[in-house]
Amino acid sequence: MDTRLTEVKKTAAYIQAITSFQPDIGIVLGSGLGGLVNEINIEHSLDYAQIEGFPVSTVEGHQGRLIFGTLSGSKVVVMQGRFHFYEGYGMDKVAFPIRVMKFLGIKRLLLSNASGGMNPKFKVGDLMIIDDHINLFPTNPLIGKNIDELGPRFPDMSCPYDPSMITMAKSIADSHQFPTHIGVYAGLTGPCFETRAEYRYIRSIGADAVGMSTVPEVIVARHMGIPCFGISIITDLGGMDDVQTVSHEEVLKVAKESEKKMTVIIKELIQSIAL
Ligand code: HPA
Repeated sequence: MDTRLTEVKKTAAYIQAITSFQPDIGIVLGSGLGGLVNEINIEHSLDYAQIEGFPVSTVEGHQGRLIFGTLSGSKVVVMQGRFHFYEGYGMDKVAFPIRVMKFLGIKRLLLSNASGGMNPKFKVGDLMIIDDHINLFPTNPLIGKNIDELGPRFPDMSCPYDPSMITMAKSIADSHQFPTHIGVYAGLTGPCFETRAEYRYIRSIGADAVGMSTVPEVIVARHMGIPCFGISIITDLGGMDDVQTVSHEEVLKVAKESEKKMTVIIKELIQSIAL
């Protein structure tokens, strides 16, 4: 067996030896977006550092945890804190927990992130349901010998985000009158925020929002045939006429404020999925 797959299976078995909990839905929470965890009826919580084979998060003050429990009556496994390429992890490491979650039994993957809005209709604090993405990372997590047991060499990416979950989430957002758009997310390495010219460029190639995550995880999940749902909190704006600075503190502050809306959408989406 491919050694990468052996490692994934080993870690999944390690986790299953600690908890026999079988999640149906995987959730990846972006930095500053851990509040959803308060809504979970937690059965088990494992620090990443404690999980054999797991990468360890380097973002300061952000202790990564894998949480098992029920949310809106469904069994979920939640990554509180993800692994970013800009932290220095290779794509193999970024992909690893997603593959482990597949072997824990997840049938869907929901992901959140903070992103910069470039669509002139967007305002700070709005939400964007992702309906497509552009991979601007200089690499792809599937580069290298294909792991045939996981998926095909050349996976279809015509519809990376599940249309039925997009429709459900949009109607949930509208029912609460949360300002929510549907759009294209461009993922790139960071850790710099974009220059003005870069924002203009990324907008011109068809993206509505830009961030430093999600794309690699979705590629790996789609490779394995897992339906994905992604939602961005627009924490800052780029590429508009007036120049605005961006800081990590500001991103976290806006994320915190808009997080409640995102949490409602995810909770109700999980309810709708279960119906
Ligand atoms: N650019 C990239 N990543 C981000 C941004 C941004 O403007 N905002 C939050 N994450």
